[in-house]
Amino acid sequence: MSVTQSEEKVIVIDFGGQYNQLVARRVRECNVYCEIYSYKTPIDQIRAMGAKGIILTGGPNSCYEEGAPTASKELFELGIPVLGLCYGAQLMQHVLGGRVERASAREYGKTEVIVDTSSPLFTGVKDLRGEDATGGVTTVCWMSHFDYISKMAPGFEAVAYTDNCPVAAAQDKSRGLYAIQFHPEVLHTVYGRQMLHNFVRGVCGCAGTWRMDSFVESSVKEIKQRVGDGKVLLALSGGVDSSVLAALLARAIGPQLTCVFVDHGLMRKNEGDEVEAVFGKGGAFDINFIRVNAADRFYIKLAGVDEPERKRKIIGEEFIRVFEEEAKKIGAVDFLAQGTIYPDVVESGLGGESAVIKSHHNVGGLPDYVDFKEIIEPLRDLFKDEVRKVGIQLGIPDYLVNRQPFPGPGLGIRIVGDVTAEKIRMVQDADAIYREEIAAAAGDTNPPWMPDQYFAALTNMRSVGVMGDERTYDYAIALRAVKTIDFMTAESADIPWEVLQKVMSRIINEVRGVNRVFYDLTSKPPGTIEME
Ligand code: XMP
Repeated sequence: MSVTQSEEKVIVIDFGGQYNQLVARRVRECNVYCEIYSYKTPIDQIRAMGAKGIILTGGPNSCYEEGAPTASKELFELGIPVLGLCYGAQLMQHVLGGRVERASAREYGKTEVIVDTSSPLFTGVKDLRGEDATGGVTTVCWMSHFDYISKMAPGFEAVAYTDNCPVAAAQDKSRGLYAIQFHPEVLHTVYGRQMLHNFVRGVCGCAGTWRMDSFVESSVKEIKQRVGDGKVLLALSGGVDSSVLAALLARAIGPQLTCVFVDHGLMRKNEGDEVEAVFGKGGAFDINFIRVNAADRFYIKLAGVDEPERKRKIIGEEFIRVFEEEAKKIGAVDFLAQGTIYPDVVESGLGGESAVIKSHHNVGGLPDYVDFKEIIEPLRDLFKDEVRKVGIQLGIPDYLVNRQPFPGPGLGIRIVGDVTAEKIRMVQDADAIYREEIAAAAGDTNPPWMPDQYFAALTNMRSVGVMGDERTYDYAIALRAVKTIDFMTAESADIPWEVLQKVMSRIINEVRGVNRVFYDLTSKPPGTIEME
């Protein structure tokens, strides 16, 4: 199942940079559908896609080095507009006869850039302090490069520069080729969205018809057609993706859907009951709902295991076993539905070039013994914020649609080291307090410090403390809170000190076995959001 073939699209060719998914999301924000492909994708395949524009991403290499990711000259001769960003810009110049060299100093961070607003890329860009004498305007962009374009390829003209970078952007309008050394996809580039909009809607001439309501409509139609009167089975976790998927399937095929909810005992406090209240009997959806309480099985399998990837594997595999057993009771079904979304596809190395940093267990792990004919993944092409929009379109309650992301392996990866029922209790209780206090402090407002994801984790550290007159030797809780746009990069959130202190004091007083609370300041990279 995929987005309607007739949808106009722009493709992103991935050279392994960290902002690649962000580029695709920004394009979709222009109401233009966008997909990511590896730079290794054969040129004939690219030609056959009928894209209206191509964007080459950044990447960690030097394009003039032996073995560096490259592009063929033909890519620039398809008659389709191409925009190169950072590495992509350098590569375009390199392949077409320009020169790229190592700069004397790395240019990194927010940088003032002078852009020529007569270029179609820079239409609408406003000056920081009024137009300068040469007709260019000064704005702020995000730079991150070691190499620079020292000579443009024949036919190109420079349309932006900085103090250290003579070619911050170049164009050959007649061939529809554009190169930008900085990163318009990053919010620090003040007019970045405008620049991408200019390329996608202006240069490529996309009409901008990609909308979530049209997605729901076409998706429901497609599901109905494909499923007919068949039976569909879904492993419902209660997270945003599988919940939205359940609602989408409920809209399309109603009681032909059976949802199996495996409660692995690694969920947030009371969450199992909340999921049951929404999707179970008497809830908002006319579907078959089965809850399996399997906590003990998971705890036994996890006993004594402290290596993070092994924990993930065990949880993923056990999940599948429990699910299989339940599916066997149901008997043959026609379809197995999966809540795979686009970042899962890309991060699993199936889409672009991103390295597999952690194994996400909802992709790649399929039950062996479930009797089904086909898989359906109706959300496979969507980013998270798009999935939420679909959820809202489908009338799912706001608190569910806007739930924080929660990893498939659950609290299993928020407990550093081995997992026990006792530790799960500690982290659940601490986390509930943390969420309660943040919600109370934020009220109905959305304060600037409001984290995009926050949770309590249990460190594997025990230390000495004193409670009343007693010496204690207990665990330390780590509070994590991050601001992030895409969960690929993140900063720790600036939660007011008094809120943190209240959380600390409640945790110490109310959670047995905890005598210390830390606040995790690490950004991503180098840290990850979860502890494991
Ligand atoms: P990290 O820890 O990789 O997390 O910085 C990025 C985002 O992904 C979530 N996460 C997972 N989600 N299965 C999931 O479904 C997983 O194994 C998993 N690991 C991390 C994490 O909560 C954060 O939002």
